[in-house]
Amino acid sequence: MHSKKALVFAVIGAALVVAAGSAASAQTRLYSPEAEQKAQALLKQMTLDEKVGQLNESSGIVMPGLGGKKPDELIARGGVGSILWLSDSKEINRLQHIALEKSRLHIPILFGFDVIHGYRTVFPVPLAMASSWDPSVEEQAQHLAAQDARAAGIEWTFTPMVDIAHDARWGRIVEGAGEDPYLGAAMARAQVHGFQGKQLGPDSVLVCVKHFAGYGAADGGRDYDSSYVPEELMHNVYLVPFHAAEQAGAGAFMSAYMDLNDVPASGNHWLLTDVLRKDWGFQGIVLSDAFAVGSLVTHGYAKDGEDAAYKAITAGLNMDMASLTYSQHLAQLVKDGKVSESYLDSMVLPILEAKYDLELFEHPYVDESKVDAMLTRPEGLTLERKVAARSMVLLRNENHALPLSKGLKKIAVIGPLADSTRDIEGGWTVEGLFGQGSKSHPVSVYAGIKDKLGPNAEVTLVSGPVPSRIYPGLLDQMAGRKMTPPPTAAETADWIAKTKAAAEDADLVIAVMGETAGMSSEAASRATLDLPGIQQQLLEAAVSTGKPVVLVLENGRPLDIRWASEHVPAILEAWYSGTEGGNAVADVLFGDVNPGGKLPVSWPQTAGAEPLFYNHNLTHEPEDRPGFTSRYWDISSKPLYPFGYGLSYTTFKYSDLRLSKNSIATDGSNEVSVNVTNTGSVAGDAVAQVYIHQRYGSASRPVRQLKGFERIALQPGETKTLKFSLGKDELQFWSPQSKEWVVEPSMFDVWAGGDSTASLHAEFSVTQ
Ligand code: NOJ
Repeated sequence: MHSKKALVFAVIGAALVVAAGSAASAQTRLYSPEAEQKAQALLKQMTLDEKVGQLNESSGIVMPGLGGKKPDELIARGGVGSILWLSDSKEINRLQHIALEKSRLHIPILFGFDVIHGYRTVFPVPLAMASSWDPSVEEQAQHLAAQDARAAGIEWTFTPMVDIAHDARWGRIVEGAGEDPYLGAAMARAQVHGFQGKQLGPDSVLVCVKHFAGYGAADGGRDYDSSYVPEELMHNVYLVPFHAAEQAGAGAFMSAYMDLNDVPASGNHWLLTDVLRKDWGFQGIVLSDAFAVGSLVTHGYAKDGEDAAYKAITAGLNMDMASLTYSQHLAQLVKDGKVSESYLDSMVLPILEAKYDLELFEHPYVDESKVDAMLTRPEGLTLERKVAARSMVLLRNENHALPLSKGLKKIAVIGPLADSTRDIEGGWTVEGLFGQGSKSHPVSVYAGIKDKLGPNAEVTLVSGPVPSRIYPGLLDQMAGRKMTPPPTAAETADWIAKTKAAAEDADLVIAVMGETAGMSSEAASRATLDLPGIQQQLLEAAVSTGKPVVLVLENGRPLDIRWASEHVPAILEAWYSGTEGGNAVADVLFGDVNPGGKLPVSWPQTAGAEPLFYNHNLTHEPEDRPGFTSRYWDISSKPLYPFGYGLSYTTFKYSDLRLSKNSIATDGSNEVSVNVTNTGSVAGDAVAQVYIHQRYGSASRPVRQLKGFERIALQPGETKTLKFSLGKDELQFWSPQSKEWVVEPSMFDVWAGGDSTASLHAEFSVTQ
């Protein structure tokens, strides 16, 4: 696998027009030439049914409620190209033996699974890892996950999820990198490199970039609902991280479930062929989301199964995940001449190429004797603890409430999540899905604090009733979690009394609150963002005692914490922080790690403010102007905490913002430099951020757009000078008027600082 192509430019008229991609033939091949040769030779020996078989990804388990049976027979007939939802190495080997010993051509199966943020060692959820603003740690984490997964028999992961999310009501916001295309692109590239490595081989795992595309724009934040996204927003925002992943060499994409502008993504020719293959030159595999080909009928897009298979394959979708629609109808479509065999061959080719480059033919089986040792490598937990602490965001710290003293003698740890080991890892855990039970040993926040302080401190736990969803969650169901009814008034009063008593008896209260893991993931959208259950009441009870309270949030989306943001002096956003999460929280609370994470989303005041994102356009009445205003009259139009925000136990000063030129040509580039100084008394990490605004042009441009960032460590008193480049990649946008990528003559504002409200400013012009 090779890294991707250079873009082609042409100066036309006043603006620099940037042609994204060129003919596929002019590009570097995605898979190796050797893999292509072998795949072509194999294709020549394949029957029509065997070709169709490669386009089928079957479920490796019999799913409750979905019927079906084990895929053994189908595999023996050469009818299965890939298997998903199977993580048991023994069973993986059993099925692979059938493929290699019983099927005519002995083509190995490609085993896929949702290895989203770790295998047995579970890393923080992707939204958390994006909060690190450190692509290198995300790459390291995903690399470790890839090694673990591959050793256990998983060769294909359905990650990275690079959907931009503007709306915290959408449960899947937890799986992505938040609202910003630039940060999202950086995290997407890091994940592709982490899983695949420089080149696909026997240790790497093929990625599947999802959900292509526009899934995060679901109406009302309701999962699976239709998205209506104009083309300019697709190009300038939603497609950006996908393109970055593609350019980084991603071998596969997953089509999304929903309608995009009335055409379901899994049958959307514009997306899967015009953009992905023609404009970008993608040569890899497009896999549908689960059952999505069959669902083209449910959407009211395809007449029946045959029509669904036809619409999906001709749109450019190679592989059908779990619906068996291709298996049932594709061969007939070819026999009837509706789909040509040469087109079918072009759909099969990348699947075989990937199998060759992954060296599945040479190394088809898992060495079962080595799996456990690999998955319990101590370096996994060490890295997890580091990544988790790096991902935490300090939202509030009045009067230096944090860090806490290790000399504290009596601490009350409260809240239903405080000692939960099943929630701290988040929803998508390989071994937690399908009721297989997690084999990792997650550390709860309560356990982490107790361990940090040792026997000299008394740490009491008062948990609380685990909040339930009205509708049981998909991941909760898969993990076999039972929903409990809400507590009665008497039970609530009892929990409040216990919480108060524990707080009164303690020197300090640590409240661990948020959402259970299944409340924030697939099919986990919500209409409010309150702390669910009676958590708010418990928090207020603790604060009412007058004892110092620290709030640790364990969640996968911003929540409505307006009350806490005024009444609780210290708030740490820990997210679902993974296997070592409790230890990492303790590291941060007690000052062994100085928090440096930053928000990858604008934190709303309340749910009614969603969708909310910092990079919106100006209105004719900008929001700070008195009088007419486009914003709300009942809440501040500003986020509670802005995009890019996060505190530290030290302070930083940004100064001396300089540009190398006052003016550049449309094909030129400007260099930004800025000094960052640690003005406090402890070492800490700053995340320097650079934003731009194009003042006028062929379209209104966002008030600010992130175009550079770097996380750096600074000793007290130390200053570093950082440099960022503003050239074509940063200045171009897809113009809705000329319908192409342009760099336009205009004035540009530049800001540098520690979040998206940075005030240090400079400007330059772009001329023809
Ligand atoms: C459905 C989800 O939308 C997708 O993200 C996941 O990869 C597949 N199921 C497979 O589990």
